[in-house]
Amino acid sequence: MEETRSKLQTQPLGWWVRSHGCNELSLEHDDLEVCLMGWVQYRRDHGGLIFIDLRDRDGLTQVVFTPDVNAQALEEAHALRSEYVLAVKGVVRKRPEDMVNPSLLTGEIEVAVRDFKLLNRSRTPPFLIEDRVEAAENLRLKHRYLDIRRPAVAKNLRLRSQVVHEIRNYLHTAGFIEVETPVLTRSTPEGARDFLVPSRLSHGHFYALPQSPQLFKQLLMCAGLDRYYQVVKCFRDEDLRADRQPEFTQVDMEMSFVEEEGIMSEAENMIAGLFKKVLDVKLETPFLRLNYSQAIADYGLDRPDVRFDLTLRDVTDVVRGSRFNLFARAELVKALRVPGGAELSRKEIDDYTDFVSIYGAKGLAWIKIKDDEWQSPIAKFLSPEEQEGLTDVLGLEAGDIVFFQAASPEVVNNALGYLRLKLGERFGLIPENTFAPIWIMDFPLLEWDADEKRWEARHHPFTSPRDGHMELLEKEPGLALARAYDMVINGQEVGGGSIRIHTRDDQEKMFAALGMDLQESRNKFGFLLQALDYGAPPHGGIAFGLDRLVMLMAGCSSIRDVIAFPKTQKAACLMTDAPAGVSNRQLRELGIRLREAENKPQD
Ligand code: AMO
Ligand code: AMP
Repeated sequence: MEETRSKLQTQPLGWWVRSHGCNELSLEHDDLEVCLMGWVQYRRDHGGLIFIDLRDRDGLTQVVFTPDVNAQALEEAHALRSEYVLAVKGVVRKRPEDMVNPSLLTGEIEVAVRDFKLLNRSRTPPFLIEDRVEAAENLRLKHRYLDIRRPAVAKNLRLRSQVVHEIRNYLHTAGFIEVETPVLTRSTPEGARDFLVPSRLSHGHFYALPQSPQLFKQLLMCAGLDRYYQVVKCFRDEDLRADRQPEFTQVDMEMSFVEEEGIMSEAENMIAGLFKKVLDVKLETPFLRLNYSQAIADYGLDRPDVRFDLTLRDVTDVVRGSRFNLFARAELVKALRVPGGAELSRKEIDDYTDFVSIYGAKGLAWIKIKDDEWQSPIAKFLSPEEQEGLTDVLGLEAGDIVFFQAASPEVVNNALGYLRLKLGERFGLIPENTFAPIWIMDFPLLEWDADEKRWEARHHPFTSPRDGHMELLEKEPGLALARAYDMVINGQEVGGGSIRIHTRDDQEKMFAALGMDLQESRNKFGFLLQALDYGAPPHGGIAFGLDRLVMLMAGCSSIRDVIAFPKTQKAACLMTDAPAGVSNRQLRELGIRLREAENKPQD
């Protein structure tokens, strides 16, 4: 060993070549000379003997510095610290019986160090590189490269890689062609706000980052490609939640000469195959299907978690004549019966009342069914007939609790729909490690935008109405149904798509129904209308949210856990500090001047 080593200098790798990973060695390698590289996970210094758990992305191997093998290396190893980077050469040997660690794949062996190189030092990391980590998420995101060293995080990224690999494999075999579409483009309306990119060459003009490649994939069908897919970044400037990021990834597909059945069966085969290959979980195909209106009626939400049975009941008619004014007058009154729920405390009920207020609920009425009486702030308002009516309709039994919501359909369904999920968790009704996929179909084509006072496409304006429903657009737009379908798994919308409008006439009618005059639709979508004029085939497709799919498969509760470098609630990257100010020169080149108060240049 060289002199410099005594001061424990870092050294270049030189000719050292890694022979094995840190999760690879076992008794069958006994006596083998190996070379491992990785990070110091733990160092146990017994003075005359130093043990180090050397970690790489695959696992841990115990390496041991002993005086009989290399006394100088042992001397130097006192200076090693957590997260130092090492290359170690040594010989595999069996651990003494009492040192065997059955929880490690490499737990029966250790590597006796003959020589080592310090490849780099590390400052003390701001949190421990361990699966059980207490550190706040913000600290972990700021040092995400350290966070990803934790096996649990790396495992999610590995799963994601495997998922993408299997999907590509499936689609390639099924005759889909992967095509990349532009990122600097015009706005595609998917219902969110666009991220804009100013043009340097045409001042005052902006590209929009795609909310999805919707129009490009339709144009690829017009181009005759027949079956397209892409694993593609999409950008939406919307309020973020655990299942939403401003940039996220879609597995985007489009097919020609098919109807709903063709697309849905291809999509569910792909998903079922994926779950089988990656998780060894069998999903029964064909997946269950539910109408949108039935989903709302039973579950309150259009992405129902059907792993458990609690359902909502419409009791508007039962309480129509009630002395309880709120119930008598409300547009809709629905009830949610929870068998055995009477055990809930007042505090819990108060918390649920706060919870539903997020969805606009002004209160949360409840009744506990006891053996001899109804315990409730509202029971006194309910006549014996009403009580009997509720008992009948809801099948009430002693020990139950019933929650009521009386308001507009939107508030009632959201409040009770989300409350249902909370109660499912509270009462342990949601089975773990099960996946319940379901298609939601027959969505309304349009929805009323109360702020803008106009109809909006519920999915996007290129979705075809059901046969015969085009005519409804002029008379009763609210009744028109879409040829759209969403795939929902465990209450997560993992994918959505539709059969598209493929004639110019119909597309123009649709734009008109959305309040766009001919001039505006030609300005914005002239390229699409023209393409439809040149023999566009019937086509349709679907896009999956890859992040959500992987989150479900990994058993995580936030898509941030399956994205290498996610953004925070405020759409910021804590590691790079994006978004950030730009120099005045950059702004000048773009022909942009910020309003004074907002100007934070960084020259
Ligand atoms: P849609 O808008 O339903 O359809 O998006 C498809 C899927 O993408 C996922 N997703 C998101 N994931 C994370 N963060 C987000 N902000 C986010 N927004 C959407 C969801 C969703 O089901 N062009 C159409 C598809 C088509 O018609 O073929 C589209 O984008 O899982
Ligand atoms: P109040 O008459 O306002 O004291 O309300 C009586 C009960 O009805 C309380 O338990 C409230 O939480 C509940 N409540 C108030 N508004 C609603 C509503 N829109 N739907 C259901 N219950 C409500």
